[in-house]
Amino acid sequence: MSKDSSNTIESILQEQRVFPPSNDLASQSRIGSLSVYKRMVEEASNDPERFWGDFARSELQWIKPFDSVLDWSNPPFARWFDGGKINISSNCLDRHLHGSRAEKLALIWEGEPGDTKSFTYKQLHKEVCRTANALKALGISKGDLVALYMPMVPEAAIAMLACARIGAPHSVVFGGFSSEALRDRLIDGEAKAVITADGSFRKDKTVLLKPAVDAALADGACPSVESVLVVRRVNESVQMNSGRDFWWHELVDSQDEECQPEPMESEDRLFVLYTSGSTGKPKGVVHTTAGYNLWSHLTFQWIFDIRDEDVYWCTADVGWITGHSYIVYGPLSNGATTVMYEGAPRPSNPGAFWELIQKHKVSIFYTAPTAIRAFMKSGRSIPDQYDMSSLRLLGTVGEPINPEAWMWYRDVIGGNRCPVVDTWWQTETGGVMISPLPGATPTKPGSATFPLPGIEADVVDSQGKSVESDEGGYLVIKKPWPGMMRTIHGNEKRFRESYWEYIQPSDGSFIYFAGDGARRDLDNYFWVMGRVDDVINVSGHRLGTMEIESALVSHPSVSEAAVVGRPDELKGESIVAFITLETGRVANDQLVDDLSEHVSKEIGRIARPEEIRFSDALPKTRSGKIMRRILRSLASGEEVRGDTSTLEDRSVLDKLRT
Ligand code: PRX
Repeated sequence: MSKDSSNTIESILQEQRVFPPSNDLASQSRIGSLSVYKRMVEEASNDPERFWGDFARSELQWIKPFDSVLDWSNPPFARWFDGGKINISSNCLDRHLHGSRAEKLALIWEGEPGDTKSFTYKQLHKEVCRTANALKALGISKGDLVALYMPMVPEAAIAMLACARIGAPHSVVFGGFSSEALRDRLIDGEAKAVITADGSFRKDKTVLLKPAVDAALADGACPSVESVLVVRRVNESVQMNSGRDFWWHELVDSQDEECQPEPMESEDRLFVLYTSGSTGKPKGVVHTTAGYNLWSHLTFQWIFDIRDEDVYWCTADVGWITGHSYIVYGPLSNGATTVMYEGAPRPSNPGAFWELIQKHKVSIFYTAPTAIRAFMKSGRSIPDQYDMSSLRLLGTVGEPINPEAWMWYRDVIGGNRCPVVDTWWQTETGGVMISPLPGATPTKPGSATFPLPGIEADVVDSQGKSVESDEGGYLVIKKPWPGMMRTIHGNEKRFRESYWEYIQPSDGSFIYFAGDGARRDLDNYFWVMGRVDDVINVSGHRLGTMEIESALVSHPSVSEAAVVGRPDELKGESIVAFITLETGRVANDQLVDDLSEHVSKEIGRIARPEEIRFSDALPKTRSGKIMRRILRSLASGEEVRGDTSTLEDRSVLDKLRT
């Protein structure tokens, strides 16, 4: 793992603009001033157990109260709310069934071709119960892992909640991953069932999913998988394997509409979600029930300052953590109305997002900087055609947002009246960690501002010592929080080493570091600079360079591969691969296409390199380590700076330049 924080963006360092919350907004908000925020920070710091315990009791419904708030006696393995019993599907549904909320819209769904469905809390509860009963009928019980490989259809959210209802952890695999990537995850998680769809509509095309599941399961590759539940979405004929595959509409619709929620221990697994790291295969991040429930619930309430009349829309895919925490669990736990969209802006409908905001009178909109930059490029004339006066709050997530995109978002989409919350967090953190609070925090374009109450974030050096203001360092969290990941599925050692042992303070305390560089300015605002490890962030999608390299090296023509990220105006970063070929193989356009296709097959289209460069050799140290720093400079056309004295063969550099 190489650690050189080189992602400094000059324009960010110069940023002077400050946007305080309007008086109007502040007066209506839960956390309505910086002094209220500071008081909460202080309370959390003085007595964290009381702080979290009070929220857990007042904000969640427990089947049995917990005995203790936090057990941190065996760090980095935390136990939150031990002794308690709870069910997150019941917190997201059943508790809203009394009174008028039962008839409130829980989920509004829009299909890409324009078909639409909506569910009140009462209706969603029934659908989830039916699905939970269907899973039971398939022999799934508490503790069995169920994989979801789904398009953005309501059944994806329903299936997640149904799994949670019966205590079967889910593992959602993004529908854009290939069958090979799906297979790896099914094997690693020992999934007992897969829920999928025949296909999906995406950018005016039909994309099939079921054949990828068939391919992943072929030749008995995943012996743990006993059944496959298939949603009919595109009506294409797909192969159904008798005894293994079941249509959703045949199995689910006939089930009873009552299903008692399984009483779950606080620390029972809720889900496993795979994400990329700097080494090895993707890791299964484990989240457990009560802590995650509290964290997704509280953060959603705080950062969006949710009100009963809000219509909230997050454009993420349920295959990522943002979809888990901020399409499904956070909004529903708060009794909010959440919008889900199958499609994306596309040439035939570049205003698709704005049309939906206008149609459903969306008041809170949460999207990724990469989308904002793409809209910016095509100009304001498209959004200007729509009435977006319903919006009151905008959020961004997934990658650093450049001040220009932030300003455009605020101005063109938010009509200069909506605060922008830039939310920093990760799959591992379960929910947002650093973000403005819309009624309290004066924002600066490009800064995620301050840690949420109870989150002790810092910027430190490699010994864990806080660095000076305006100096770059590692972004760390110094105290456990309820939504923290509990482990990596099947690999406690990797959990320890990757997150808790990279930075070892002299006092022996455990601090969490997951790969980002940051700095704090003189006003204590956090500026997240991006990854400082070998993970790249392409359009908000997190990819490990090593995963892409392994995919490339598995091609018969490739001898060695090194993959680096190159700054990209639209995508944040793009993938550049440097390759040496096996003897006798010839570099040509056909091979470039083949390699690209090969990566698509091994991982998914999102991992295809933007550029592939061939060379006789790669720059290495004398001990044989590839010098990525040099490759990064070469990929972005920069001068190779810094020490090159450890380079084994300096002539390699000259060859790569040409
Ligand atoms: O590098 C950070 C970046 O996304 C990484 C986490 O990716 P993932 O686990 O896929 O979760 C994405 C959605 C939370 C982080 O390590 N990142 C996320 N949000 C921001 C960000 N970088 C800068 N600013 C953000 N607001």
